[in-house]
Amino acid sequence: MKKDTFTFTNNRTNESYEFNILDATRGPSVVDISSFYKQTGMFTFDVGYTSTASCESRITFIDGEKGELRYRGITIEELAENHSYLETCYLLLNKRLPTKEELLDFDLELRHRSFIDENLITLIGTFPDSAHPMSILSSGVSALSSFYYEHLNMENEKECQDMARRIIAKIPTLAAFAYRKSLGIPFIYPDIDRSFTENFLYMLRAYPGGKMKRTATGVEEIKAIEIKALDTIFTLHADHEQNASTTTVRNVASTGAHPYVAISAGISALWGRAHGGANESVIAQLEMIGDVSNVDAFIARAKDPNDDFRLMGFGHRVYKNFDPRAKALKKLQDKLKDELNLDSKLMEIAHKIEEIALNDEYFIKRNLYPNIDFYSGVILTALKIERPMFTAIFVIGRTVGWITQLMEFKNDSSSKIARPRQLYLGE
Ligand code: ACO
Repeated sequence: MKKDTFTFTNNRTNESYEFNILDATRGPSVVDISSFYKQTGMFTFDVGYTSTASCESRITFIDGEKGELRYRGITIEELAENHSYLETCYLLLNKRLPTKEELLDFDLELRHRSFIDENLITLIGTFPDSAHPMSILSSGVSALSSFYYEHLNMENEKECQDMARRIIAKIPTLAAFAYRKSLGIPFIYPDIDRSFTENFLYMLRAYPGGKMKRTATGVEEIKAIEIKALDTIFTLHADHEQNASTTTVRNVASTGAHPYVAISAGISALWGRAHGGANESVIAQLEMIGDVSNVDAFIARAKDPNDDFRLMGFGHRVYKNFDPRAKALKKLQDKLKDELNLDSKLMEIAHKIEEIALNDEYFIKRNLYPNIDFYSGVILTALKIERPMFTAIFVIGRTVGWITQLMEFKNDSSSKIARPRQLYLGE
């Protein structure tokens, strides 16, 4: 059968060239332009990859127009409501949800692998107390490549899975240690009696000897609702197809570099304010706005073409309708309002911004809706997590996505070193 093709005509020469159209199982088809230069002697030009598919993938699907997000075919709403973060990790890594026994094994394995080498702890200890947790986290993960150098070459699926499970298990510990280092307080080792998400909250909050805070009314244990809230946040962040940090991970891996170095590069890419760093900036911005009476003035600044002020937590390259992760978090926020101590002042300002922006011509015309980062900060604040840790929380959730994408890249025989071209305009 003749393949569908796309014809380019160069009206300088009147020559036409045909390129195959490849169909996706969902979403837009693509034009295969891999032979474009060979055929035409020209490059294509697409700054920021706004129309370019950089790889084949079978992991995550986004329909930006409909506001739909699926991991391995399952909607994010189904996963956030009816499954745990560890089930989601298993799903991403193994292409299906685990059985009860598989989940138990996976959980126990991660608990036992959550410890980090004492020399790595010494390294973390050498950072200045003022270091941002993301800086320590990125360096710590890069350093992990020295402790597990054998993961450079993975000959079989079992070795890949070991590499993946190890990093997923250790990321919360590294993040918690980075946090405690930034506060200048003693490190708390993982407690294997606690589940993945509970253990992370424990490592953030506990006192030496594994004691929890005491108040006049008793011991402040970690609440089930807090574990569920953070677990949902991890699930909603678990993967997001070819975003900036994932593309960074794939690009670094494409050179044959160690997987953990590629993850470290992804962490660095995520840190920026246009990407995962936005969750920290949202709360900073809400605090700067300070009061609902100031919201109008900030909205005016966001709309002013001569002012580079942007509303943090608004807009997305792919979602041109509501971000489904934001929708799920808004639902969670409303649920938590009465059960946790959500900052009502910040929520009031956030609601006012949302209300104005969703009805304002400027935002409507540009399809600017709240994204996941707009809502996560208020919930994380209620979980008593300090602002500099917000992007590190994103890292914990996203590590499974990065590593799954990296493994897909390694297993794809058509993968190539990432090497874009340029439109040279210099001397
Ligand atoms: N506030 C005000 N105006 C905005 C915003 C915003 N948050 N975002 C985009 N715009 C405007 C731009 O000024 C531009 O207007 P113009 O056409 O009049 O020049 C138009 O909307 C398109 O913006 P681009 O920057 O071209 O859109 P792009 O898809 O490249 O950027 C991005 C997406 C980076 C997320 C952008 O919307 C942004 O900076 N948002 C704020 C930061 C943020 O929340 N980042 C988190 C993203 S989600 C995540 O990574 C997990």
